Amino acid sequence: TKKVKMRKIHLLLATATIYLCLPAAECVFEKTIESFLKELSVRMCHPIPNLGLPALDPLTVNHAETAMDNKYLIDFTGSIDNFKVHGLSDFVINKLSINIVPGVTRSTINVTFPYTYLKSIYTAKGSLAYILNLAGDGNAETTITDFNFEISWRIKASIGPLAITALKIDMLLGDLKINFDNLLEEERINNFVHALVNEMGVELLGDIWNYEQPTAIDKVETIINSKLPDLLKLITGGNGGEGPPVFDGVEPDCKSE
Ligand SMILES: *[C@@H]1O[C@H](CO)[C@@H](O)[C@H](O)[C@H]1NC(C)=O
Repeated sequence: TKKVKMRKIHLLLATATIYLCLPAAECVFEKTIESFLKELSVRMCHPIPNLGLPALDPLTVNHAETAMDNKYLIDFTGSIDNFKVHGLSDFVINKLSINIVPGVTRSTINVTFPYTYLKSIYTAKGSLAYILNLAGDGNAETTITDFNFEISWRIKASIGPLAITALKIDMLLGDLKINFDNLLEEERINNFVHALVNEMGVELLGDIWNYEQPTAIDKVETIINSKLPDLLKLITGGNGGEGPPVFDGVEPDCKSE
């Protein structure tokens, strides 16, 4: 009977939203999400324990390593130290429209990260297809300009827990530049690879994304649906002037203005 009750609450919630989102009335969900994101962005230099998040701006990984043992002709061991990503809290919301009515109308969120900067000390050793020898060791830097994505979905028309369906993710990349100290043993090839990525990186990533998209989207949809009830609770939980209690104890002091 607890389940039945939850269903009734969802139905009520959906019905309530229909009325709240009638033209001329302001949509409560957009407002709530917008203020949640705003409260989040000014706290992203701190970990947020209630969300299980580490500090995100800068996002820091002290040490990590990985190896690929001749899979796909790549023989590789690599590590990163003092890895930092800057700029994740500078997101701009271009579009946000939420429709919680099941069926036809899509919800959309469109976000831009104007400038993201990754820096790390790295090692990359091994060979690619037995031809290219990696000799990587030193600083690695990557800058990403105007990374924009748009996610849209519909609410699943079914009895049961609130779920999304028909997820769509589109991405646009303004520019991508890399600089890895001594990545490849041979200098000419090293220069060539850097030039290739710096000239073509945007297109290359686009191709990879188009190729991997169906699998990625299925995975993301599953993850979202498994977390959706908790996520809604976190975002909508309380709306006093101080922001949702999920931010309790985390100072909103990350942006000095
Ligand atoms: C996001 O919105 C902007 C402005 O409406 C649009 O130009 C852009 O194409 C959208 N992004 C994606 C990835 O569709």
